[in-house]
Amino acid sequence: MIAKVQSAAALGMYAYPVEIEVDVTTGLPQFIVVGLPDQSIKESRERVRSAIKNSGYQFPPEKITINLAPADIKKEGPAFDLPMALGLLAATDVIPAERLAPYLFLGELALDGSLRPIKGAIVIAASLKNSKSFVVPKENAYEAAMEKDAVIHPVNSLSEVIQFLRGEKTIPPISYIDPERFLVPIEEPLNFSDVKGQHFAKRAVEIAVAGGHNLLLIGSPGSGKTMLARRIPGILPPMDFEEALTLTKIYSVAGLTNGRSVIRERPFRSPHHSISQVALVGGGPWPRPGEVSLAHGGVLFLDEFPEFKRDAIESLRSPLEDGQITISRVKMQITYPARILLVAAMNPCPCGFLSDPRRACRCSLSQIQKYKAKISGPILDRIDLHVEVPTLSYQTLASDEPAENSEAIRSRIVRYREIQSARYRDRDYNLNSLMRSRDLKQFAKPDAEGRKLMEMAMRELHLSARAYYKILKVARTIADLASEENIKSEHIAEAIQYRTLDRQW
Ligand SMILES: Nc1ncnc2c1ncn2[C@@H]1O[C@H](COP(=O)(O)OP(=O)(O)OP(=O)(O)O)[C@@H](O)[C@H]1O
Ligand SMILES: [Mg+2]
Ligand SMILES: [Zn+2]
Repeated sequence: MIAKVQSAAALGMYAYPVEIEVDVTTGLPQFIVVGLPDQSIKESRERVRSAIKNSGYQFPPEKITINLAPADIKKEGPAFDLPMALGLLAATDVIPAERLAPYLFLGELALDGSLRPIKGAIVIAASLKNSKSFVVPKENAYEAAMEKDAVIHPVNSLSEVIQFLRGEKTIPPISYIDPERFLVPIEEPLNFSDVKGQHFAKRAVEIAVAGGHNLLLIGSPGSGKTMLARRIPGILPPMDFEEALTLTKIYSVAGLTNGRSVIRERPFRSPHHSISQVALVGGGPWPRPGEVSLAHGGVLFLDEFPEFKRDAIESLRSPLEDGQITISRVKMQITYPARILLVAAMNPCPCGFLSDPRRACRCSLSQIQKYKAKISGPILDRIDLHVEVPTLSYQTLASDEPAENSEAIRSRIVRYREIQSARYRDRDYNLNSLMRSRDLKQFAKPDAEGRKLMEMAMRELHLSARAYYKILKVARTIADLASEENIKSEHIAEAIQYRTLDRQW
C-alpha cells in the first residue's frame, strides 16, 4: 500500500512543499529512501526505525520505499523524519491514511521517539499557511504561531502524533499570539549611563546611529571600545513587528530561535576575527545566513578589525551597499536581509598603547603604518566615521558625575530618523548614509562658507573623492542633529574630524 504525507522545506526566507510517498510491499526486508542526500538518508533511516520501535510499534519487516518529491530540489535535514515515520505507519494501517491529509508534518525524531525542533519552522508557516495546518515539535510552535492565520499543533513525540491521528487524543492548535504583547520594550541591561566621560566618542556614536553611518573606533586596550559598541542596539529605534518577524525568520533558518517566539531585541553580533567568509556573509552547500544577516537591524561588531581575513572583510562590501546578501547556487539563488550598522574597533598600533598616556608604545613608525594598511581602501570606503577613543584618566573613571541614559539618546535618534524619512519619502532609502551620490546636490549642499572649508580640506588634507562624499553625508546628519535645513561650515568641520585615517595616510 502507498501512503502520502505532506511536509515542507525552507529555502532561504521561503519554503516549498515536499510530498513523501511511502510504499510498503511484501518481499525481502529493505528500506530505500530516494530524494535525500546520501549521508542524511542513512541517519534518517536509523532514527525512523528506532523511533517507531521505541514508541511501541512494529517496524514492518518488508520492502519499504520512500520517495521525497520534488526530486530535483535539493533537500536537507532531519525535518522529514516525522512525516516518513507517519507514512510508514499509515502504509501498514497503524494510523488511518485519510487522517493525514489536512496536515503538514515537520520534525526530527530522536531514537526514543521524542521530537526535536527543526530549522525554518516560521518560514514554512509563512509560505504554506494557506494550504495546510501544521504539526510541529513543541519547541518550534511559538515561533511558527507568530505567523498570522497559521494553525499550529504542537507535539512532543511520535506516539503523541499517532494518538492524535487515531483520534485518541486532541491537540488544540495554539492560537496566534497578539504581536502587541511582544513589543513591550524590554529592559536593556547595558545602558549608556554606565559610560563615564567619552563625550567625543558618544557624540560620534549618536551621529553614526542617527544617520546609519558605519563606525570605526580606535583606542588602546581598556579604553572602552567594546563597552560603547555593546550599548548601541539599545539606542536604535525600537523594532516594529514586521522587522521582528523578519529577524525571527533569519534566526529560525539558522536554527537559533531556541524555542523562543519572536525575536524582539535588536541583535549585537561580534564574531571572532578568525571567522571565515562563509560564516560572516552566509553560504555553504545549503546556504545559511551568516553573521551579517544575524545582525540584521542591529549591530555587527568587528573587534580587532585589522586581524580579520581580507576576503571575509571584502565580502562585506555588497551587503553593506545593498542591505542584503544573495548567495548563488546551481539552479537557485537565496537572498537574506543584511541591513546592519557596522561598528569596527582597532588598536591605534600593534602594541596597542600609542594613544595611552599611561604606557609607552614600542612600535616603530613602519610597524604602525603596516598595521593600519591592513584595512583595505575599499572597505574603509564603507566606514563613514573614524573615532579615537582615548584612555580615560583615573579621575574621570572614579567620578560620580551621572551620564546620560540610553532612553534619552534613543528618543533623539527616533526624531532624527523621522527627519530623514520625511526628506527621503520619494526615494528607496531613508538614511543619510544611504544617500545616492546624484542626490547629494539636492539634499546635502553646503552653504558658501561650508563649500570654502570643504575645498580647503580637500587640498590641505589630501582627501580623496570617497572621503569627500562621506564628509557631506555625515555633515548632513550633523545638520539634522542641529535641526538645520542647510549644511553649514561648522557641520562640515565636525564631519572632517571623523576622517582621521584619511588624514594620516
Ligand atoms: N568610559 C568608561 N566608563 C566606565 N567604565 C569604563 C569606561 N571605559 C572603560 N571602562 C571600563 O573598562 C573596561 C574595559 O573596557 P572595554 O572592554 O570596553 O575596552 P576595549 O577598548 O574594548 O579594550 P580592548 O582593546 O582590550 O578590547 C570596561 O568593562 C569598563 O569596566
Ligand atoms: Mg574590546
Ligand atoms: Zn604601539
